Amino acid sequence: MLIIQKNSYEEISTLAAKIIAQKIKNKPNLVLGLATGSTPLGLYKALINMHKNEGLDFSKITTFNLDEYIGLPQTHNQSYYYFMHENFFNHINISKRLINIPDGMSEKHDIACNQYEDKIRHAGGIDFQILGIGSNGHIAFNEPGSSLNSRTRVKPLSKKTIKDNSRFFNSIDEVPTKSITMGIGTIMSSQEILLIANGLNKAEIIKSCIEGPISAMCPASILQMHRKVTVLLDKDAASKLTLEIES
Ligand code: F6R
Repeated sequence: MLIIQKNSYEEISTLAAKIIAQKIKNKPNLVLGLATGSTPLGLYKALINMHKNEGLDFSKITTFNLDEYIGLPQTHNQSYYYFMHENFFNHINISKRLINIPDGMSEKHDIACNQYEDKIRHAGGIDFQILGIGSNGHIAFNEPGSSLNSRTRVKPLSKKTIKDNSRFFNSIDEVPTKSITMGIGTIMSSQEILLIANGLNKAEIIKSCIEGPISAMCPASILQMHRKVTVLLDKDAASKLTLEIES
């Protein structure tokens, strides 16, 4: 694992965008795994600026989002479909047919999950996966206790995640209780992974993820087993680490 610490959220967002821009320049048809949530918002903003000001070309990339709530239509302002279009896709020259987001409204979720895995395989696998981390150690919606070898499937959200994500809804009762999520095995099959975290509320879980034992109780700790992971942290998120860190 390469751990990089920067002073601020702006700095980690800019650096993450630079890393991804370079990947796209090296491989214009990059297969990019994407996350939602508050963490990657700064990164998406920086990539949009690079598109507008420097002509960064997204026209050939294929994207796969990590997860989607079950039961929210694409038009719901908290669906991840809506989030991705609002915060990223509508502002860049991505080809709409190369965007992939799990369908939380499908009638047969199990089939939809298998088809999502097939699509990833047909695209040649994910070259570069962006991740955030939940305050309980989840990656995508792989909650504590998830199989470390899992593939895309339906997962109930933990009470902690429902509480954390209720900040985006009018009330906690509106938060969906289930999701479709790439599995931990799906994420681990990516060629390269970039995990981003900021803020003091992530400090404890970042310590467990990087310095703790590998355990299904902290799903992000499995990243210790991946060949090519970069963890990009602001000062606050890195504040509980005992490791010496590059900055
Ligand atoms: C989102 C996702 C989640 C988030 C995590 C952190 O697609 O997969 O695992 O990355 O819940 O969320 P934020 O960034 O809002 O703290």
